Amino acid sequence: MSALLVLSFLFFSVAAAPALTLPSQAGSEPLKSQHFQIQEPTMSLELRDGRPDDATVLGRICFEAFKDIAHRHHFPEDFPSPEAASGLMSFLLGHPKFHAVVAEAGGQVIGGNYLDERSAIAGVGPIFIDPAAQGQGAGRRLMEVVIARAQERGLPGVRLVQVGYNNQTLCLYSRLGFQVREPLSLINGTPARIHISGYDVRKATAGDTDACNRVCREVHGHDRAGEVDEAIRDGSATVVERQGRITGYATSIGFFAHAVGETTEDLKALIGAADQITGPGILVPTRNHDLFTWCLDHKLRLVQQMTLMTMGFYQDPTGAYLSSVLY
Ligand SMILES: CC(C)(COP(=O)(O)OP(=O)(O)OC[C@H]1O[C@@H](n2cnc3c(N)ncnc32)[C@H](O)[C@@H]1OP(=O)(O)O)[C@@H](O)C(=O)NCCC(=O)NCCS
Repeated sequence: MSALLVLSFLFFSVAAAPALTLPSQAGSEPLKSQHFQIQEPTMSLELRDGRPDDATVLGRICFEAFKDIAHRHHFPEDFPSPEAASGLMSFLLGHPKFHAVVAEAGGQVIGGNYLDERSAIAGVGPIFIDPAAQGQGAGRRLMEVVIARAQERGLPGVRLVQVGYNNQTLCLYSRLGFQVREPLSLINGTPARIHISGYDVRKATAGDTDACNRVCREVHGHDRAGEVDEAIRDGSATVVERQGRITGYATSIGFFAHAVGETTEDLKALIGAADQITGPGILVPTRNHDLFTWCLDHKLRLVQQMTLMTMGFYQDPTGAYLSSVLY
């Protein structure tokens, strides 16, 4: 699980995504500042934008912070080594659509956070604070600055996926204004490599972009155009067609990818056709009982629980989907 986590982050393209596309639906107003109140941390803290030369120190802190919380809950470590975490940091710091924030105390870097700005709705994470500096308000400040950035940019919403066993982040994110929307089951294993009759899956091409964005808008009320474009350029995206019409897509089948379908059968077809699940697993909305049990029936295994949390624009999905680790 751990090595794949880093590797699948590296599947992201570093090419620039197109300009942000706001949902056209009524009611998708920009985030409002009253969603949270800024609190002063108990330590003297400096926040600044991340730089490429932060990768090594951020990677070491990220590795230690996630190792610490995983060990305390008897879960496997998320990163195999500080170097692997630094590789991820290096990638994110170099990506033009990920905004990095670094926290310093006493001149020393103590943590970081990221805002994924590839699509209209922004995603938060990974966030981490040096275990020795935790519980003193630095994590809250790193969250507040990325939320404020999303507000300043007029984005309609910010989302994240919280690790289910982490009581601290569930409470912190809730108090900042994020609402729990969906329990997610992280599921891994080898896809069944099956074809569902009438549901034809093929690699997505540039000409499929509009159809993919239409499906996403129909199901979620917004599109994820930046991520779709990136995945099509990378060659990782697939579409499912019924009677020659695109009814679902996946930017890949894995932890850092999302998928949307008009129906649960569309999702089964996309998962069933995948060569592999990339990273630690796919994030299946557990309340989609049909999809959840279909995955289990096809020998995929539950790894852990996670939680989709949102601030700002959100509408109940009218179709089926897989969340990415960001939303
Ligand atoms: C998550 C993390 C970034 C938070 O940073 P931090 O500096 O320790 O957090 P802060 O001190 O700013 O805030 C902690 C908040 O949790 C709250 N909290 C902690 N445990 C709590 C509990 N059991 N019940 C209620 N609230 C709790 C604190 O009251 C505080 O909230 P407040 O600011 O609203 O009072 C840091 O702990 C970390 O790096 N963890 C490991 C990596 C990780 O889990 N990342 C997130 C993945 S989802």
